[in-house]
Amino acid sequence: MTRSPWAREYARTPNEYIWGLAPSDFARAVRALLSPGARVLELGCGEGRDSVYFAACGCDVTGVDVSAAGLHKAQRLARAHGVKVHWVHGDAAHDLPAGPFDLVYSCGAIHYVPRRQRVLLFPRLKALTRRGGYHVHVVFTDRRVYVEKGERIDYFTESELRRAYADWLVLRFEAMLISCAQDGIPHRHGAGLFITRALRPSRSP
Ligand SMILES: C[S@@+](CC[C@H](N)C(=O)[O-])C[C@H]1O[C@@H](n2cnc3c(N)ncnc32)[C@H](O)[C@@H]1O
Repeated sequence: MTRSPWAREYARTPNEYIWGLAPSDFARAVRALLSPGARVLELGCGEGRDSVYFAACGCDVTGVDVSAAGLHKAQRLARAHGVKVHWVHGDAAHDLPAGPFDLVYSCGAIHYVPRRQRVLLFPRLKALTRRGGYHVHVVFTDRRVYVEKGERIDYFTESELRRAYADWLVLRFEAMLISCAQDGIPHRHGAGLFITRALRPSRSP
C-alpha cells in the first residue's frame, strides 16, 4: 500500500484532528451542486471532516484513505455527528469502490498519487461517474513548491488537469495559494481548485 506522511502524523495524534472538525471551505462550496441522496466519493478523506459533512447534508458518502489511523478518527467523527459513511482503507489509485457516483471529490490528496498512476486514475474515476455528475479536486500545483515531511509529490500542472478532463465541461479552474504550518513553519502551497462536469457517460478504461 502507498505510504503517506499523514499516516504517521495521524498515528502520532490519535486524540487530535489536525485538519480540524469543521468542513473545508471547498466542501461547503460544493454542497450547492448536490441533490439529496447524491452519491459522493471522497479520495484521501483523512480524518473525515468533509466526508462527514457531505453525509450530514444527506449524501451517501464513501471515503477512501491509505491511513488506518486517519480513518479511525473519521469513524469517531461520523459517530459524533450520528451519520453513516462507507470508509475504505485503500489506495485511491487502486482501491476504488463500485459506482456510479454523482460527485468525486478530493481535497489536498490526489497529488500524492504518482503522475504515472494518475494517467489511469482519471479515466477510472470518470467511468464511475453518472452523466451530469461532477469531479471537484483541490490539488497542489507547481505554481509554488514547498517541500515538507519529506513528501514525494508530483505537483499538478494546469495543463495536466485540463488534458485529463478535455472531454468534460470545465466549470471552474482557480489558482490560489493555501496557507499551511504543518511542519511548524508557516508557508504557502500553490494550489488549484478544479470543478468539472460529465457531459456524457464515460466509457470504461
Ligand atoms: C493533506 S491530507 C488531506 C485530508 C483531507 N482531504 C482533508 O482535507 O482534511 C491528504 C490525505 O490524502 C491521503 N492520501 C495520500 N495518498 C493517498 C492515496 N494514494 N490514496 C488514498 N489516500 C491518500 C493521506 O493519508 C491524507 O489523509
